[in-house]
Amino acid sequence: MKDKILRELYEKKGQYISGEELSEKYQVSRTAIWKHMNALKKEGYVIETTHKKGYKLIESSGKLIPEALKRDLNTVEIGNKIIYFDTIDSTNNYSKRIAKDAAHGTVIISEEQSGGRGRLGRNWISPKGEGIWMSIVLKPDIPPTEGMKMTQIAAAAVCNAIRGVTGLEAFIKWPNDLVVNGKKVCGILTEMAGELTRIDYLIVGIGINANNESFLEEFQHIATSLAKEKGEKVDRKTLILHLLKEFEGLYEDYINQGTLEKTLAIIRNYSAVLGKSILVIRGEQQLKATVLGIDEEGLLEVKYEDGKRELLMSGEVSI
Ligand code: BTN
Repeated sequence: MKDKILRELYEKKGQYISGEELSEKYQVSRTAIWKHMNALKKEGYVIETTHKKGYKLIESSGKLIPEALKRDLNTVEIGNKIIYFDTIDSTNNYSKRIAKDAAHGTVIISEEQSGGRGRLGRNWISPKGEGIWMSIVLKPDIPPTEGMKMTQIAAAAVCNAIRGVTGLEAFIKWPNDLVVNGKKVCGILTEMAGELTRIDYLIVGIGINANNESFLEEFQHIATSLAKEKGEKVDRKTLILHLLKEFEGLYEDYINQGTLEKTLAIIRNYSAVLGKSILVIRGEQQLKATVLGIDEEGLLEVKYEDGKRELLMSGEVSI
């Protein structure tokens, strides 16, 4: 009931809605409506109450609730359905649980993850209300070998969104990290289910350190947040809206053209590794290499010290 009332307040944003109207619509007492309003106020929503006119939503407490996002979202499919949690184990885990029946483009957002996952079985620390912890469920009709391209599309979309919204110079550390001033601000975890020749669904998990204030000591030299780099808080809602719009544009371009042209232009333009000397990490082994380019498929062309060249599909590189 509380969520229904919140939706009504959003739909009427800027205008009053009377307790009487709500109680009639939902067949509950006016006292029950009043109690739900108080509960919302406790959660941080600023709701103006006048005896005669009823209730008016003034501020949404900065939470990423779907009603607030959807009002300003300008996409066709991506984000058409948004599922929101105050807390969840992991938005990728939840996506997996619902993916079979979820529509293409469903977005799952949580204010906090209690078991956020990173690549290579690592944890992803996801404190409440500070970052953007979200997953996108995709159902493209492409072979599984193309699945990794979703990571590239997401990386390019996040890069453009960060640059557009914050003005920060974000770079893509191939294949799935975003860095600002050399430190990680975003990681992408793409997971896939299907058969050898067919994808059932893909989950693109995106974690952005938007307003994180502090990092564990062991991460302080490698991780940062957009707010730390900018010196002021970032509006998470605006960033998500830009990100989903960018993502849909690049995704559609790839599906319609069958090439990653637009995505690659961004990835090459804002690459943190192109032309650089890097370490290719393979288990215990670290091999020095120079990045020669990013090919049409999004693979990383590297040249090792012994002159051997290789095209990397995924894996870890360190600058
Ligand atoms: C990495 O850099 O290792 C990838 C990190 C991906 C984190 C995001 S946060 C939202 C989604 N849910 C998860 O559990 N992980 C991804």
